[in-house]
Amino acid sequence: MVASVPTPTALAIGADHAGVAVKSALIEALTAAGHGVTDCGTDGPASVDYPDFAQAVSEQVTSGRAGLGVLVCGTGIGMCIAANRHPGIRAAVLHSTTEARLTRAHNDANIACFGARLTGIEVILDSLRVFLETPYEGGRHDRRLRKLSAADAALTQSEPAP
Ligand code: RB5
Repeated sequence: MVASVPTPTALAIGADHAGVAVKSALIEALTAAGHGVTDCGTDGPASVDYPDFAQAVSEQVTSGRAGLGVLVCGTGIGMCIAANRHPGIRAAVLHSTTEARLTRAHNDANIACFGARLTGIEVILDSLRVFLETPYEGGRHDRRLRKLSAADAALTQSEPAP
């Protein structure tokens, strides 16, 4: 079975300039709930590139320093695309508690992405709470996750030497 994540857990969070205010609100809520949070930036309104922060949070998760990650940009989409390029990452854009529950239960998602320009803070907070509370179901989903891991391994092995 693919290892699931205990809660509360160590979390890593990152945002671009479009998501920085939401990131601050999430850090406050997560810290109040007893989670340890590593803030991977950005920290201000200056324009930055979302792949840099997706990479930082993804590395925290794949190294095991964080059990789960959270990424915020304008739509959540750029962060999700960028995070899913990292082997071992299963990132999902969340707009509802139902998506949060199902992506943990079925996909063992390990990064939640949010769109600060599209989704209200109450929906984001509720979705993140459900994401953190929901365990991976295992069972029939293990076979599918093994195929994702195999695809990661094949891509990694086919990369040309530097
Ligand atoms: C930044 O303007 C915006 O493109 C970014 O936050 C994100 O929405 C990309 O997917």
